Amino acid sequence: MPHPGLPERLPADFPAALAQLGEAEKIGVEEMKLLILLEMAGEPLYGKLAELAGNEESREILLKNGREETAHAHRLKKAIEILTGEEFEIPPMSANPYAAAPPLTELSVEVLRGLEEGEKKGGVDYERMAAAETNAEIAELLRQNGREETKHGERVSTVIDLLG
Ligand SMILES: [Fe+2]
Ligand SMILES: [Fe+2]
Repeated sequence: MPHPGLPERLPADFPAALAQLGEAEKIGVEEMKLLILLEMAGEPLYGKLAELAGNEESREILLKNGREETAHAHRLKKAIEILTGEEFEIPPMSANPYAAAPPLTELSVEVLRGLEEGEKKGGVDYERMAAAETNAEIAELLRQNGREETKHGERVSTVIDLLG
């Protein structure tokens, strides 16, 4: 039996999942479940990038972003619990189809630029979801995530500068 925290529809890969979320008019429980999987995939991704980083400052920045992605998933868990009135369990990494870190062998500017764009877009998307949300507590959780995604983009930009 699939983990009860998984959404009903599981897009094939990370970009397909992002596209599906982009089409959703308003974020509901199913969208939040999918978003939780993407957020939880963020920490192993940043962990992989940190491993490849050539200096301590970059490593720390990347690990910090990663930890905050997990915190984003926990805010979404809280939002689901507010909506449903029931306890929600985040699926373990083993049940998360998006959690495998990409097979990167070096930290390239291209990869970091893509990530920077994705984070900036994440900030805008969360802000849009927050604006459409009628529950004030949930809207604030989404807004907090959005502010941090924007900050993540700025931090990734610092890592690009450090790369020289
Ligand atoms: Fe995030
Ligand atoms: Fe982020």
